[in-house]
Amino acid sequence: MDPSAPKRVLLIVGGGIAAYKALELVRLFRRAGVGVRAVLTRAGAEFVTPLSLGALSEDRVFTELFSLTDEQEIGHIELSRQADLLVVAPASANLLAKAANGMADDLAATVLLATDKPVLMAPAMNVRMWLHPATVRNVDSLAGDGVRFVGPDEGAMACGEFGPGRMAEPQAIFTAAMGLLASGPVAAPPVRPLKSRRVLVTAGPTFEPIDPVRGLSNRSSGKQGYAIAEALAELGAEVTLISGPVDLPTPTAVRRVKVVTASQMLEACRAALPVDAAVMAAAVSDWRPERVADRKLKKEAGAPEIRLGVADRKLKKEAGAPEIRLVRNPDILATLSQPGPERPQLVVGFAAETDHLEEHARDKLVRKGCNWIVANDVTRPGVLGGEENVVTLLTHEGEEAWPRATKVEVARRLAERIAAALAEGSEAGDAR
Ligand SMILES: Cc1cc2nc3c(=O)[nH]c(=O)nc-3n(C[C@H](O)[C@H](O)[C@H](O)COP(=O)(O)O)c2cc1C
Repeated sequence: MDPSAPKRVLLIVGGGIAAYKALELVRLFRRAGVGVRAVLTRAGAEFVTPLSLGALSEDRVFTELFSLTDEQEIGHIELSRQADLLVVAPASANLLAKAANGMADDLAATVLLATDKPVLMAPAMNVRMWLHPATVRNVDSLAGDGVRFVGPDEGAMACGEFGPGRMAEPQAIFTAAMGLLASGPVAAPPVRPLKSRRVLVTAGPTFEPIDPVRGLSNRSSGKQGYAIAEALAELGAEVTLISGPVDLPTPTAVRRVKVVTASQMLEACRAALPVDAAVMAAAVSDWRPERVADRKLKKEAGAPEIRLGVADRKLKKEAGAPEIRLVRNPDILATLSQPGPERPQLVVGFAAETDHLEEHARDKLVRKGCNWIVANDVTRPGVLGGEENVVTLLTHEGEEAWPRATKVEVARRLAERIAAALAEGSEAGDAR
């Protein structure tokens, strides 16, 4: 196949409210010079018309398996042969279930079964449907067959509920599709060395309330932890992601538990045990206010729960600054690293440092009793909140400085190391 030849996408539109977004997706492909041929399921045609899809794709739209004209002209096998990539958007729960089980009872399902081309699915459904164990199984098994996923996003849904299940935005689907089109005619089948392994990942900051509107937190974006959760899931792991407050979508095929405070995070971690590995990438606040005011603290002196400050007497005199007394938060990394029957085989901590990176990180490795520390220098430009990271991996055997890479690349490298370590079982003996 000529790599410079114009690319062609076969777009399968399933039966969901999000089908209208498929029209925008067609426009994005066409604007980029990508040819689009659409298959519209019967249910899909309840939401968008073949006419609008056909007008935007500038091609005819295929709907029926047993259409004499269609079959004589192109045929269901030929449909997938002519495309470089199949995109299913929206991928309804029904379409996922049919594709996962090799069913071929309509044109869309038959084409999906007959294809040898890469397939990208953009699931869209009600949050309960998405979280149902049957859908989780179907997504897992499709991912095992090499199907790629984009989304779903989390947010308010047409049905009035809130959670993961909204179809990814057309731009995100377009970007994922263009990535697959650029990576060659046939995407390599995924390797899933972590199949049947359970992994726990923490990510993001914690937020320790001072009063109903204020709190102590930090600038962790959660991007590195989320990328790690996704990379581990791509390798086949059953991932529970325990996340502090961040504005990121739930990675595909990952179970996310949202928490706010360090104590809630520890509780959620305990509930997720037993796991084979734990990657503690969250930036957990070391301290929390001793007491949380039940009303917003006012600027005027004399807020009932707060003693006036002694640390800065000048400020006290001028502004009546309250003193917030802090107490230690639980140490989640040290708690999970404690020897015992529930200790994960591999515990990986993170150390965000601003100076003496390796020295501080090695000290943390020993103090916490974990197996590895991923240390990063957060003073480096673009690291905190950015898309890239520069990390050093410290183990009890030595250390490796990894070159600057995107957070996704760092995540994939770490996920592969975790898979190798679990396979060797090398960490088990001395760590427990
Ligand atoms: C108003 C309405 C909205 C629907 N939205 C969705 C949806 O967003 N996702 C989904 O999986 N199913 C949804 N369904 C159910 C599917 O349309 C139904 O399961 C259908 O059989 C799926 O067909 P398909 O395999 O062609 O996609 C909806 C049904 C109705 C009546």
